[in-house]
Amino acid sequence: MDKLVLQGGLRLRGEIPISGAKNAALPILCASLLAADALEVDNVPALHDVATMQRLLAQMGVKVARDGGGLRLEASQVDRLEAPYDLVKTMRASILVLGPMVARFGTARVSLPGGCAIGARPVDQHIKGLQALGADIRIEHGYIVATARRLKGTRIVTDLVTVTGTENLMMAATLAEGETVIENAAREPEVVDLANCLNAMGARVNGAGTDRIVVRGVERLHGARFRVMADRVETGTFLTAVAAAGGDVVLTHAQPDTLEAVIDKLGESGARVEVHTDRIRIVARRRPRAVNLRTAPYPAFPTDMQAQFMALNAIAEGTGVVTETIFENRFMHAQELMRLGARIEIEGNTAVVKGVRNLTGATVMATDLRASASLVVAGLVADGETVIDRIYHLDRGYEALEAKLSAVGARIERRR
Ligand code: UD1
Repeated sequence: MDKLVLQGGLRLRGEIPISGAKNAALPILCASLLAADALEVDNVPALHDVATMQRLLAQMGVKVARDGGGLRLEASQVDRLEAPYDLVKTMRASILVLGPMVARFGTARVSLPGGCAIGARPVDQHIKGLQALGADIRIEHGYIVATARRLKGTRIVTDLVTVTGTENLMMAATLAEGETVIENAAREPEVVDLANCLNAMGARVNGAGTDRIVVRGVERLHGARFRVMADRVETGTFLTAVAAAGGDVVLTHAQPDTLEAVIDKLGESGARVEVHTDRIRIVARRRPRAVNLRTAPYPAFPTDMQAQFMALNAIAEGTGVVTETIFENRFMHAQELMRLGARIEIEGNTAVVKGVRNLTGATVMATDLRASASLVVAGLVADGETVIDRIYHLDRGYEALEAKLSAVGARIERRR
């Protein structure tokens, strides 16, 4: 199994290009199921999760071809309306095929995702919303089995803010008869990106980016060409890495307007962050100060950046209190950070991180995607060698991570 080996203590200097957003690309690839014509998607990151989604769509009969940094997906002959357990269990985002399949083909069989490392993560809101749209849904042998004639527009109020839930329902509603209103919708930028792609395909979606999305159903969608937004979590991860390790780095092809909460916190930690249209420069010269943060749905501080900030707090001056409100059990990285010398106390969904001057390199294990990213941030500052095991988690969400960090002066390599 691949490992990452880092030598800590070097400042970072130079430029890093940001890739397309994983969490925008995945639903957008699923949107191809809504039309018979080809959807051409640019700026698709080369990631394990994207490859898994390509495989799932190809199994269903979608013709998928890579061209350069893009993908062409043609769902003119979809013949297997199913997402099997072996794919869904490796990637929960597979649930995103459910809405489009029921809407266009009137039938779908999607495996229930089951538990995952960062909590129970049920999909009840996806199911409840599709039922409100008129789908008949049964759970059979671990599968969600959905059937419908044409879906009918309605008003849906989700019990909680769910990103992929909002995306699934928004996609389903594009082909429903009449108007659908989704209340308590997720406002994440990836929801807006998907809405823009759907509208490019002929859908009539309004209000994405607010908590009330209105979709006027149309008979059919057509093909389109669409460019995926920049990855705000990748951007935030590199910003945090520089804030922790020190240095002067410019991130290019970024979308700074999607990162306000993160940039605010970096400023609080003492880094200087300059924002331009599609570039962000971060200059960090001194030891960071600890920051308190609380994760919540967008535009508040993202749960996907919590682990990286815990690593930053671990070496900061002072004590930072980190509260996780989105996922239970999303502190597994704390144990591994403590193996590097961090002082962290956890009580329920709160972690109190007392900054120490130095972390010391050790062998640590990645437990999920963002936990792995926090270990990379820690490894960049720890004295000596840090070995991160099980980095397949990182390959799910970070494109060319070691190449990008090496290019700004980090000593990081992959060993097989
Ligand atoms: C998405 C992101 C993930 C991010 C998360 C929160 C993608 C592919 N993944 O995941 O990176 O960490 O948003 O920003 O975009 N919930 C229910 N019932 C449901 C759906 C969700 O109880 O039907 C709960 C979840 O267990 C969780 C909370 O709602 O506690 C938010 O989850 P959700 O926004 O749905 O996360 P994902 O869309 O899976």
